[in-house]
Amino acid sequence: MSGSMITVVQSRMTPAVALNKAIILRQLLAIGKTEFLMEAHDGLSAIIAEQAGFKAIWASGFSISAACGVRDSNELSWTQVLDVVGQMVDRTSVPILADGDTGYGNFNNVRILVEGLIKRGIAGVCIEDKRFPKTSSLADGHHDLAEINEFCGRIRAGIDHRDTMNPDFVIVARTEALIAGAGIDEAFRRASIYHEVGADAILVHSKQKTADEILEFATRWERRCPLLIVPTRYYQTPTEEFEKAGVTVIWGNHSIRAAIKAMEEVCISIYKNKSVVPVEAEKKLASVERVFELVKNDELTKAEERYLPSDTMLPNNM
Ligand code: SPV
Ligand code: MG
Repeated sequence: MSGSMITVVQSRMTPAVALNKAIILRQLLAIGKTEFLMEAHDGLSAIIAEQAGFKAIWASGFSISAACGVRDSNELSWTQVLDVVGQMVDRTSVPILADGDTGYGNFNNVRILVEGLIKRGIAGVCIEDKRFPKTSSLADGHHDLAEINEFCGRIRAGIDHRDTMNPDFVIVARTEALIAGAGIDEAFRRASIYHEVGADAILVHSKQKTADEILEFATRWERRCPLLIVPTRYYQTPTEEFEKAGVTVIWGNHSIRAAIKAMEEVCISIYKNKSVVPVEAEKKLASVERVFELVKNDELTKAEERYLPSDTMLPNNM
């Protein structure tokens, strides 16, 4: 058979797009530049974040857990999280940085996680230096920091593995030293080591009500690689402070919290009134048409015109 007889069917499974999204995320996280990532916890919240204008999405463990009605304590398996993040990928075109928690175990689990995320078209992952199972950083109580050398093995394994698959896939190392009360020196020491080991960026988390320790950390960091923060507790800090510090901001849980409040209000009022009329609940709701718009019903209508059986479906003369 001559070579010209062979027809190669091009894959539409878009590995190129996935590679590209990792590159885009890399560019967004440029050193010293302030970018903003919005939390999403399912396909719909990801669509809304993108439509609002966010150039990248944070697939938040806190929010995904809450949306599933469970605690942010690794009660969901990593494959359950991957399924949710996969839905976000399918519904959006912006890069997604996945919250990988601790990596769900040791170095081997991190490799498996990285592979799953890359195959599913996710642009990057953040791994934190706690032990599995983790507890929410925003919750009171004890936060067990991992041994530095053990955590370095997790990061190194993630990097080595992504290098074999997609070297642009972003690996963010997150230190929980401030959350664990170990102080800025320890946070700085850990972040410096993770950077040396090859992490593409550092996330330093704090739950103080002011940004003092985060801003001090950022000054000491001297922009040696991109720095990410999650100002959930110190939300009152003017954004200019973050821009001056050149850090990237993750709005970690704002869509899920907005959704919870709105759902509670509407459920309680409809239950009490046995109607939507007295409280004008209908006015507070997204219209049914808006739902159709968000999930692109019009695309299906057009596809039906093209593909459902009709007189014009058959090629000429058949
Ligand atoms: C998340 O959004 O899941 C985070 C940030 O990890 S925090 O919940 O503040 O720990
Ligand atoms: Mg998390």
